[in-house]
Amino acid sequence: MNIKIVTVIGSGTMGNGIAHVFAQNGFSVNLVDVSKEFLDRGVKNIRANLDRQTKKGTLTEEARGATLARIELSTDLAVCAKKSDIIVEAVNENTVLKREIFQTIDANAPPHAILASNTSSISITEIAATTKRPANVIGMHFFNPVPVMKLVELIRGIATSDETFAIVRDAAIALEKTPVEVRDSPGFISNRILMPMINEAIFCLAEGIASRDDIDTVMKLGMAHPMGPLALADFIGLDVCLSIMNVLHDGLGDDKYRPAPLLKKMVAAGYLGKKAGKGFYEYQS
Ligand code: CAA
Repeated sequence: MNIKIVTVIGSGTMGNGIAHVFAQNGFSVNLVDVSKEFLDRGVKNIRANLDRQTKKGTLTEEARGATLARIELSTDLAVCAKKSDIIVEAVNENTVLKREIFQTIDANAPPHAILASNTSSISITEIAATTKRPANVIGMHFFNPVPVMKLVELIRGIATSDETFAIVRDAAIALEKTPVEVRDSPGFISNRILMPMINEAIFCLAEGIASRDDIDTVMKLGMAHPMGPLALADFIGLDVCLSIMNVLHDGLGDDKYRPAPLLKKMVAAGYLGKKAGKGFYEYQS
């Protein structure tokens, strides 16, 4: 199957980035969210990120216009599902909501359609089990900022078929991304490794081993990471980091994955990082 029409569900940071890269690479995209206000915010972000590319000279004005023209906005998921070859869900990490969405798209999408989730930690096998086509369900995990980060983790649920995997791998390559194949397991590869590193940085801070800035400097200058772990935690969202640590802890049953008490305390206080204006650092909106 050749993918031509893509529906992306959720116009937040990940969803609008995913819509952006599909449209920029020639796919027709339906971007779906629950309100016009959310969709307008999503498109505003896409425009800003395309402007960044045209200013840098990496995208022509013509290609910018063509990219935007390939994106249709909608609040009607069932209608968009009906005309899609692949649907990529990128809503909040809420299992109940994801289940509802997968039931709706399974009931409406044509039989050949692939149902993908951008989940960063929820089991693909579990999501697939809510549908009547588990062989066509796969994890397609992008990284923020989506137009910049080259990786896509492709997660195979227990029933994901070789055909589904091959089609989605080819689509990821068409987006100029590098796909990696991962078996369904808590946190997949990316978050199995990244989150314990961030969690350990938070333990170091809480134990007074070094200051916030020095912890981040160690990883930036000593390991050539573009951001230190505490700045990266703010960028990802401390609530997201905590939820992924809980998935690792529950799913793998090892206390080495226990979330740092300071992480829990900051989330309880509403210090969720960049999006909240305050996390380990402070941000102006
Ligand atoms: N959208 C599009 N392009 C963007 C962008 C955005 N939101 N933010 C930055 N860019 C582009 C810039 O235009 C610039 O492009 P060029 O290289 O062509 O010049 C490039 O990215 C670098 O940007 P800046 O110079 O403005 O800033 P920077 O050098 O500080 O880089 C960064 C910013 C790309 C975010 C960099 O700090 C970085 O790579 N940080 C780490 C990000 C990371 O680890 N992401 C993964 C998070 S984990 C996740 O997403 C998954 C999960 O499950 C939790």
